[in-house]
Amino acid sequence: MQDFRDLLKTTDPDVAAALAGEERRQKGGVEMIPSENYTYPEVLALLGSVFTNKYSEGYPGRRYYGGQDFTDAVEELARARACAVFRAGHANVQPLSGSPMNQAVYLGFLKPGDTVLGMELSHGGHLTHGAPASHMGRLFNFVRYKTDPARAGAIDFDALRATALAARPRMVLCGFSSYPRDLDYVAFKAIADEVGALTMADVSHIGGLIAGGVLNNPMDAGFDFMTTTTHKSLRGPRGGMILCKAEHAKKIDSSVFPGLQGGPHMNVVAGVAVTLRIAATPPFRAYAGQVIANAKALAEALLADGIQLITGGTDNHMMVIDTVASFGLDGAEAERVLDAIGITTNKQIVPDDPRPPLKPSGIRLGTPAATTRGMREAEMRELAGLIAEALRHPADEAVLTRLKSACGEICTRFPVPGIG
Ligand SMILES: Cc1ncc(COP(=O)(O)O)c(C=O)c1O
Repeated sequence: MQDFRDLLKTTDPDVAAALAGEERRQKGGVEMIPSENYTYPEVLALLGSVFTNKYSEGYPGRRYYGGQDFTDAVEELARARACAVFRAGHANVQPLSGSPMNQAVYLGFLKPGDTVLGMELSHGGHLTHGAPASHMGRLFNFVRYKTDPARAGAIDFDALRATALAARPRMVLCGFSSYPRDLDYVAFKAIADEVGALTMADVSHIGGLIAGGVLNNPMDAGFDFMTTTTHKSLRGPRGGMILCKAEHAKKIDSSVFPGLQGGPHMNVVAGVAVTLRIAATPPFRAYAGQVIANAKALAEALLADGIQLITGGTDNHMMVIDTVASFGLDGAEAERVLDAIGITTNKQIVPDDPRPPLKPSGIRLGTPAATTRGMREAEMRELAGLIAEALRHPADEAVLTRLKSACGEICTRFPVPGIG
């Protein structure tokens, strides 16, 4: 069969050139943005399969269009596997991505003006957890809790309980996009129960690590809802998923469709089904463990070099370097310097950051993508050395050129799944 790239060169040479460039970029550099990964070749292929042609509004056995034998089959598989992997009573695999997945929970179970406790954005919470810039932040009353620098960045549950008793939230929300520790879901649940609130955990970043059994699972603590994107540590296609107690099944399904969305992307749902089949296997458990082992090796090497990490280390797949304190560079400058040597990271605000979001005090690094390529602790230590040297010589072209070729040499040893 003709490679689709050859066809694309004729149909649209501009997009063909952009695709070739992106493939080169993904192969030739180390991806350290903690929310990114390389999905499985089979899943990449499914995204471009005929499932993309099909409209499937509704749910298996209850669709608004005919011709659903095979779409029903893949959605049933995805739902059943999601429930098994995450030990949940019900799963909805239709959210188009992480943002609508969270919106579907809020809009289905809260009334406008209801109070939700959520983690402060600069302490690691996510925009979709009611940041003032988001529509959800205007629709609901989000009240913030923080981490405690005096306790190595742990959540201050005494303060959180006092806030809950004062605010009487309808929902207690936990989860993060920039926090390098695990969460004590039992402690969140106890506080929520005391004030009669629903519980929701957005585990988008760590869904794969929970599936792999290496981090705590909020469903085991009796949470009402757990949401996760499917494309981060879980290694699936871009999408979102809602796990919940069986008693919330009907309401959550109607909140996703017809409440918020139209037709699900069945090419993605098929990819999610495959991803979850793999997530239940021993090799995936080993992968999840290696993601954390790699993050710890990277963090330890950086710390040993005198570099400051938020909370002093990591227990999950990510870490945040305070680049201002460590190198006198803001996060935007650090991101640009590391880009120049082929290591992709992202600028990141730190707790109570005095600097603006586009020039914040740090950068965020993560290991899921590099681990997927097969890199191990030894490569993490090599990368720590490259990162430290680059950030200490941000304007020395000769040094940066040498580091870029060292980084490129590491990449040649580790092919990217689906590209080679
Ligand atoms: C914790 C968390 N929730 C939700 C989202 C939103 O996901 P998406 O970008 O797919 O809308 C993200 C993505 O960065 C996230 O990290």
